[in-house]
This record gives sequence, C-alpha cells and structure tokens, in this order.
Amino acid sequence: MAVDADDAVATAAVAGPQIRIRGAVKSFSGRVVVDVDDLVLGDQPIEGLIGPNGAGKTTLMRMVMHSIPLDRGTVSLLSPGGGEVVLSDLSAYRMAHHGVVKSNQVIMDFDKLTIWDSLLLAATERSNERPHRIFGEEEAAFVRHEDEMRRHLEYFGFTDPMGFARSAGEKKLLDIVRCLLLQPRFLLLDEPTAGLPDELTDKVTRVIRELAAAGTSVVIVEHDLNVIWNLCAEVSFMAEGRVILKGNPQMIREHRTVVEKYLGEGHV
Ligand SMILES: Nc1ncnc2c1ncn2[C@@H]1O[C@H](COP(=O)(O)OP(=O)(O)OP(=O)(O)O)[C@@H](O)[C@H]1O
Ligand SMILES: [Mg+2]
Repeated sequence: MAVDADDAVATAAVAGPQIRIRGAVKSFSGRVVVDVDDLVLGDQPIEGLIGPNGAGKTTLMRMVMHSIPLDRGTVSLLSPGGGEVVLSDLSAYRMAHHGVVKSNQVIMDFDKLTIWDSLLLAATERSNERPHRIFGEEEAAFVRHEDEMRRHLEYFGFTDPMGFARSAGEKKLLDIVRCLLLQPRFLLLDEPTAGLPDELTDKVTRVIRELAAAGTSVVIVEHDLNVIWNLCAEVSFMAEGRVILKGNPQMIREHRTVVEKYLGEGHV
C-alpha cells in the first residue's frame, strides 16, 4: 500500500454536516443485526467505520440511506449552521436533495449502459433532470456535464467512455465517479478500494481528501485498514450490530477489544 503517511489526515477547510443515528434497530428474521444507541458521524471530515464481516456496517449505511427501513429509531442530518433534518422521516426522493450519497459494496449494474451513459444518468440525478428528456436532448446534456465526466474518467484511466465497464475494479471506480457527480455533502463509501491495485487506491484516497477539504463529510467502511489509518481522524468499531468504540485511530487499533474481535494479535 503506497498511501503517503506524511499527509495522513485531511485538514478540512470547511466544516461539513454530521449524521446522527439514534436508537436505530434492524432485525432480519427475528435476529437483530443493527442496534445503534447514539452515534454521530462527521465529527471529523473523514471517519472510518470498521468491524468484522457481518458486524452490520453495510446494513447501518443502508439504513441511513433508506434502502433498508429502520424497525425503529431516527437518522438526522445536522448542518454546520445548526439545522437538523430527520432523514428517516423523508422519502428517498426528498432525501436526495440533502446531498447524502452512498457508494455500494456490491456494485450496481453497469452492463446495460456504456460508461458514458451510466455517468450521464448519474449527472442528471443531481440536477433532477428526467433521463428520458436528457437522452432526447443529448447534446445539451453532454455540454453541461461532459467536462466533469471527462475529467473524472481521465483521472481514473478510462480510455474508452463509449465502451462498457468490464472488471469489478472498473465498476467500483465508476460507482465512485457516480457519487462524485452527485456533488455529495455527506458521502458514505462502502469498501471503496476493495480489490483495487495500489495505484488506484492512492487515486481514490486523493479524491476523498480533496472532497473532505472542500467541506464534504466522508465516512469510509473498509477492511483495508491502511486506508483507514491513513485517511481517518476518527474511527468507529462495530461488532455484532453495535458500535462498541469510537475514537482516534491510534486508540482504536491498540484497543484490546478491537484486537480480540477483529485485528488479531500482532496486527498493531
Ligand atoms: N437482506 C438481508 N436479509 C437477511 N439478513 C441480512 C440481510 N442483509 C444483511 N443481513 C445479515 O445482517 C448481518 C450484517 O450484515 P452486513 O452486510 O451489514 O455486515 P457488514 O458489517 O457489512 O459485513 P462485511 O464486512 O462482510 O461487508 C449479517 O449477518 C448478514 O448476513
Ligand atoms: Mg458490508
């Protein structure tokens, strides 16, 4: 892993929003998989959420996004200026207006559209344009969004935007580009660098730093802990559905519970 430790933690120029999760419970078939009492994400510009397989990390993120309904509890967005919006009271459509965006651990289907068209669709989501109109007015939409799309594609090394994404890595990167095009205020990334070579992992970490420096709050779920230790100023540790610990990376990586339940002896 070639992330540079010297510029380890991003310094935010602008304070970003926070997400507060209270009394949030989710069960599947009578088994509680998430039970979060009170968790605030976004105290720091870039935070990590780690824990063993099946801890409930993805489920918790999906609960924030409304893609899994909560059994009970609330999720709120706290703006730096002091406003609070109870996201869990909103429809998914209304939520999109608040700029809370999530990448996917399991990648969406990019097989049916070209790389260019799938990104164009994402860009239109941001501006609330209707896709059928957009495809009818292709030229105008291209002009509006093409610079940004080309910039991202070039950065991540895509040479044929009219082709299709083939590999899992390409799909993962395109999903990140899709998130960037939505201009998130709060970005949740579920294993953004899983399976990527070091060079692309470095590019993703650079993009995350830039976003955070511009005021987007970022939360990263990742098993590649080098990414977490290098990027995150605050880390939550989740196991068996609960957030057991929250603190600075040093405290988390040395904590006995984290070592026992996740890292294993000798990791620190
Ligand atoms: N739709 C579902 N139906 C039933 N059980 C589910 C569903 N989604 C998740 N689970 C279960 O909930 C638990 C938490 O899963 P989740 O995917 O949130 O874990 P995770 O922390 O993201 O794990 P990983 O690190 O492997 O991605 C697991 O036991 C999983 O099998
Ligand atoms: Mg997961």
